[in-house]
Amino acid sequence: MYTITFKFEQKGLEPITLTGIEPDQSILEVALKNDIELHHNCGGVCACSTCHLYVDKGEDFLEELNDKEEDFIDRAVNPRLNSRLGCQCVLQDGEGEISVTLPDQTQFLGE
Ligand code: FES
Repeated sequence: MYTITFKFEQKGLEPITLTGIEPDQSILEVALKNDIELHHNCGGVCACSTCHLYVDKGEDFLEELNDKEEDFIDRAVNPRLNSRLGCQCVLQDGEGEISVTLPDQTQFLGE
């Protein structure tokens, strides 16, 4: 089980901490199930970059970055060293604390 904190670059949004999160799901799925807005224009199949986020803590608990994901991160707005695609951040078996920051979602159109 994981504890995941979502922080937001969008002004006016306070951080949200979720507890008791099961592995074998992506950060995108966790966000959507909990009514946290995170765009996902390709539907979560690593074919866009709208689910881009920053992993501030706990990257070792997530499935590793692969080349395809890296290509799409390069096309994201303002990529950084800790950039990932939310749909590819699948929680591995284990437990711990993860913290992510979501870019301002108002800059994207679509889902
Ligand atoms: S939703 Fe398109 S790459 Fe994650």
